[in-house]
Amino acid sequence: MRAVAGSSGYEEEAVVLVGQYESITFEQVHRDVLHLLPTDPCRVLDIGAGSGRDAAALARRGHHVTAVEPTDALRQQAQILHAGLPIEWVDDALPELTLVRREGRSFDLLLLTAVWMHLAPDERIRAMEHVASLLASGGRVFLSLRHGPVPNGRRMFNVSAQETFELGLKHGLIETFHSEREDMLGRDGVRWSFLCLSKP
Ligand SMILES: C[S@@+](CC[C@H](N)C(=O)[O-])C[C@H]1O[C@@H](n2cnc3c(N)ncnc32)[C@H](O)[C@@H]1O
Repeated sequence: MRAVAGSSGYEEEAVVLVGQYESITFEQVHRDVLHLLPTDPCRVLDIGAGSGRDAAALARRGHHVTAVEPTDALRQQAQILHAGLPIEWVDDALPELTLVRREGRSFDLLLLTAVWMHLAPDERIRAMEHVASLLASGGRVFLSLRHGPVPNGRRMFNVSAQETFELGLKHGLIETFHSEREDMLGRDGVRWSFLCLSKP
């Protein structure tokens, strides 16, 4: 098995985590940014897609969805769970996204839901460069950051919304939305930032 930056702990807990991720809806998770979601069918890249909850919801809304998930057990369960939907699954990982970038494609919406804080500072710098290059003009990035205690066995960093906006700006991405809120699953001490960055 290859080592993927930030994915420690996920393979072992995949069954429990899929149940947890699917216990809430795309609309509940992304309620703060739903007004920024394109209504016409567009090209979506869900990076660190986990159980495929968001990829599935967006495919049901008519979007063309590519889902990147490096943890085999999560990706395989997600593919079974959402087998009826036209989601393209890719075994790839931040910061390089080698396979996705190799095809020279671009996307109108990138999702980085609960993923970014798994990357170390130097990985975030590389990853933002690639995120910006994969985004089409007029496209948006929805990104959420988890704050609070680090679960056992996971690798997580303390990442602020401000740092993320500053990094995005270096690659031409504009701060479009920012909110802070409680944990959707009610975990003690856990809070979230929801961000949207746009490419002019
Ligand atoms: C907290 S889960 C979030 C899953 C899903 N986005 C959601 O909101 O339910 C974090 C996900 O990021 C994935 N991940 C961890 N490191 C990654 C990396 N370097 N590149 C891409 N995905 C990664 C994990 O395998 C896991 O599926």
